[in-house]
Amino acid sequence: MRDTALPFDLERQNRFCEDIRPIMQVRARGSRPLALVRTYGCQQNVADSEIIKGFLAQMGFDFTENEDEADFILFNTCAIREHAVDRVFGNVGALKNCKRRHPSLIIAVCGCMAEQEKNAERIRRSYPFVNLVFGTHMVRRFPELLHDVLINSRRVVKNGGEEEDREIVEGLPVLRDGGYRAWLTIMYGCDNFCSYCVVPLVRGRERSRKPEAIEAEFRKLVAEGYKEITLLGQNVNSYGKGLEEPINFSELLRRLDSVPGDYRIRFMTSHPKDATFELFDTIASSQHICHHIHLPFQSGNDRVLKEMNRHYDREKYLSLVRYAKEKMPDLSLTSDIIVGFPGETYEEFCDTLSLIREVEFTSLFTFIFSPRPGTKAEKMEDPVPYEEKNRWFQELLDTQEAIAARRCADMVGKEERVLVEERNPKNGLLCGRTESSIIVEFEGDDTKIGTFCRVKVTRARNWILQGEEI
Ligand code: 5AD
Ligand code: SF4
Repeated sequence: MRDTALPFDLERQNRFCEDIRPIMQVRARGSRPLALVRTYGCQQNVADSEIIKGFLAQMGFDFTENEDEADFILFNTCAIREHAVDRVFGNVGALKNCKRRHPSLIIAVCGCMAEQEKNAERIRRSYPFVNLVFGTHMVRRFPELLHDVLINSRRVVKNGGEEEDREIVEGLPVLRDGGYRAWLTIMYGCDNFCSYCVVPLVRGRERSRKPEAIEAEFRKLVAEGYKEITLLGQNVNSYGKGLEEPINFSELLRRLDSVPGDYRIRFMTSHPKDATFELFDTIASSQHICHHIHLPFQSGNDRVLKEMNRHYDREKYLSLVRYAKEKMPDLSLTSDIIVGFPGETYEEFCDTLSLIREVEFTSLFTFIFSPRPGTKAEKMEDPVPYEEKNRWFQELLDTQEAIAARRCADMVGKEERVLVEERNPKNGLLCGRTESSIIVEFEGDDTKIGTFCRVKVTRARNWILQGEEI
C-alpha cells in the first residue's frame, strides 16, 4: 500500500476547501451558504455522505433540508436495484425547477449510480442543469471537483478514478448526524461477485483499514459519547485479508470490545461463507457486542445459491445458525432475501420459505430480483413473469409477518437493555432500541435520552414493543 502520497493529497483537498469558502460566501443567498445532502441506499453511502458533509463544513456550509433555500444540493445515490436508480433519476429531474428559480444553485450527483458510466453519461446528456457528477472513488476529491466547477464555471463528470483513488486514505473529515449512533467503516469494496450484485462493479476491490486506525477512531467515538457503534463493510467476515499484520474479524472485534466504556457494538454485513464459529464465540463472550447478527442467506435452495455464486449451501447456513443459537439462546437473526432469481422455480422458492420458518428471523429485508447492468445474472434466462414473482414475494411477507409477530409476543415479560434515543412526539413516550434492534417505548424523563435503560416489555403491538423501566 502506498500510504506516503496520501497525507499530501488530503492537505491539497483541505486547501481547496479554504479556497471555496470565500467563493461560496459570495454566492450564498443567506448569511452563510447552505447545503442539502440527500443519501440513498445503504450505510456505506451514509458513511460517505458524512465525509462529504465534513468537507462542506470545512468550506463554511451550514445544512438544510429545504431544497428551495439550498445553495448546493447533492444526491448520494444507490444502484443496487433498478427501482433505486429510477427514483434518483426522477428526483434529480425535479431539481430542474429549483435551478430555474435559483440559477446560482449548484447540483451534484454522486455515489454508486454515478460510478457507472452509463448513468453518468445519461446525466451528462439529459440533465444539463447538474453541475457535478462523481463516483464512489472520488469522494475524497470532492473539494477539488467542486473547486473546478466554481472556478471554471463548467460541468465536471468524474467516475472511475486513478489506482491511487482506490487505496485507503485516513484522516478525511467526518460530520456525523449527531444522535447516539455512529457508523465506522472497517473495509471498502467487495470481492465476492455474487452473480446478481452490482456492488463489486461500483465499489471496487476489497480493502481493509488497518486495525490501529479503526481502534483510534473507535476510541474517539466512545470518548465523544456515542453509545452504539456499527462497524461497516460489504463482507466484514473477511476483514483483514491483505493486511501486513495478520488479523481476522473476530480478533478485531475482541480488540475493540476491550476498550472500556458504556456502549454497544454492531456490525454489518456478514457473509455466511466467511462466518466462523470463532465469530459466534467472540460475540457470546464479549462485553459490548449485541447478540444480533445480520446474516443474509438470499435463498434457501442449493441450486439457486450456486447460481448466485454464494459459496455456501443451505446446510452450511443452518449449521452456523444452530451453533450460534446454542451459544446465544437470546440471539436475534436478520437476513436479506432475493425472490425470483433468474430460473428460480416455485418449488425452489419454497425452500426459502421453509428456511425462514426453521430459523425464525427477527426481521427480513426482502427484494424481488432486479437485473443489474454488467452482472452475470443480467444475462441469465428469466422466464417467470414479474406478477408471479410478486405473488411469491407476498407469500414470503405473510410468512415472515406471522413469525415476527410471534417473536415480538414472546418478548412480553422479558427484560431488555434499551438504548434510549428520543421522545416520540406523537405519544410523548421515550423511544429506543433493544439489542435485537426492535423499537421499545416507555414512560420516563429526558435525562434517560442517550443512556441505556433496563426495560420490562409489557406489550407487543405493530412491531413496536411497549414497556416499563425497571
Ligand atoms: N436484485 C434484487 N436484490 C438485490 N440485492 C442485491 N442485488 C440485488 C439485485 N440485483 C439485495 C441482496 C443484498 C441486499 C443489500 O440487496 O439481498 O443482500
Ligand atoms: Fe450501498 Fe450497494 Fe446501494 Fe451502493 S449499490 S449505495 S453499496 S446498497
